[in-house]
Amino acid sequence: MHFITSWVLAFCSLALGRANDWGYPDWETDSTLSFPKWGGLCDSGTRQSPININAITSLKGEFDPLKLKNYDDPQSDLQMVNNGHSIQLSGFDDDLIVSGGGLLSDYVVEQVHFHWWSEHTINDIRYPLEMHIVHRNTIYPNMSMASEFKDGLLVIGVLFHASPTPNQGIEKIVEHLKDVKNASNINNAVSLKINKLAIMELLPNMDNYFTYAGSLTTPNCAEVVTWIVMSETRPVTFDQVKQFKEIEHEEGKQLTNNYRENQSLNDRAVVFVMGQKSGASGVTGSLALSLIVLVAGQKFL
Ligand SMILES: *[C@@H]1O[C@H](CO)[C@@H](O)[C@H](O)[C@H]1NC(C)=O
Ligand SMILES: *[C@@H]1O[C@H](CO)[C@@H](O)[C@H](O)[C@H]1NC(C)=O
Ligand SMILES: *[C@@H]1O[C@H](CO)[C@@H](O)[C@H](O)[C@H]1NC(C)=O
Ligand SMILES: [Zn+2]
Repeated sequence: MHFITSWVLAFCSLALGRANDWGYPDWETDSTLSFPKWGGLCDSGTRQSPININAITSLKGEFDPLKLKNYDDPQSDLQMVNNGHSIQLSGFDDDLIVSGGGLLSDYVVEQVHFHWWSEHTINDIRYPLEMHIVHRNTIYPNMSMASEFKDGLLVIGVLFHASPTPNQGIEKIVEHLKDVKNASNINNAVSLKINKLAIMELLPNMDNYFTYAGSLTTPNCAEVVTWIVMSETRPVTFDQVKQFKEIEHEEGKQLTNNYRENQSLNDRAVVFVMGQKSGASGVTGSLALSLIVLVAGQKFL
């Protein structure tokens, strides 16, 4: 009995110790590395994220348009940090609130961060960059409370495709990366107050998107996230993405990639929501389906 107790204690402290320094395999150095086990729900969950989104087999849905409030405000003192796992923005002037669509309540933006190489893939295609806009359900007072409930968080995912033309919105972030790159600057915020960024500058057309029930893609992988992954992508240059890959997660060690491997869909549905502008209302089911295939074909193939 004593043996079992101390073994369990030793195991728990090991698990806790590891929880603080979880990370990603450096596939740039060794492409054969397997993805690490992060423990807990990350390994045992059944509604995990990210997933590969199959545009063809998604179910078709129709919802009212999403309503975005204050996303077009140029932010006067946005704070940017290298937290050792990503580049994260917070400190918005006002509440940025999304409602409408299939949402039962209002969700407010808590932070925005990036993954280089996208976490979600669409038709097995991985994009160079993915932005996550993390929202908290306003019926809960804070993130720790919201993370306890199935409807606690909403994350809007935006994928970026490779383009020869720099993305002006992304550039407002990239031009400050040199100030946070060094590992000695981890968790030291810099302000993006010179070229005031509005989150809207980073968004595509919001009419068409995939939605499914999933999880945080970082430990503790809580299964409390309604995902909205936009089907339209935004441009970014490889040089802009390269700047993200140069941030350090440890002295002398660059965070060359920070995406989690794809997770099993299990019995979940992925719904493809077509906005009213796509003109789908009133058409028959099979015509609607062929429209989806057409739209999917144009956007992803
Ligand atoms: C979150 O809100 C709950 C309920 O008001 C409170 O008990 C808790 O201390 C808060 N947590 C944080 C981290 O602020
Ligand atoms: C990062 O900062 C440390 C401490 O200030 C310094 O010794 C090191 O040379 C810097 N690394 C780079 C790549 O600039
Ligand atoms: C990840 O995606 C690949 C390609 O679609 C697939 O073969 C693999 O089974 C997926 N992994 C899981 C866990 O679903
Ligand atoms: Zn993320």
